[in-house]
Amino acid sequence: MTEFEPIIVTFACHYCAYGAADLAGVMRLQYPASIRVVKIPCTGRIDVHHILTAFEKGADGVIVAGCRIGDCHFESGNIKATKRVQYAKKLLEEIGLDKERLEMYYMSSAEGARFAEVAAEMTERIKKLGPNPLRKEARK
Ligand code: FES
Repeated sequence: MTEFEPIIVTFACHYCAYGAADLAGVMRLQYPASIRVVKIPCTGRIDVHHILTAFEKGADGVIVAGCRIGDCHFESGNIKATKRVQYAKKLLEEIGLDKERLEMYYMSSAEGARFAEVAAEMTERIKKLGPNPLRKEARK
């Protein structure tokens, strides 16, 4: 039997997490292929709808990765995103998905190693939780 390889949609802010992901690549740091990076201008642009759609389409996990608190280029985008992620976690539980499938992280663009760590940590977490129960439906 082949090992479960999760798909983790990673909404990464252009100013920080996306740069960190890029840096991880430049530094030749290994991180799991489960991570699918979607570049966004700021995590403040993320809506609960985007997160739920990723799960509906079959993602096993979702990461929202933004600038450190106080460093958002649009002042409070990451704070808004934090609140939306918390709200989305509640909705996930209501529809029977483990809220641990979703996480918000903060980092600077200089933290390539942190991006790789977050990717590995979240991949391990999702492997333990198993495939998204909606996944079979979504991938028909
Ligand atoms: Fe990075 Fe807002 S600009 S989270």
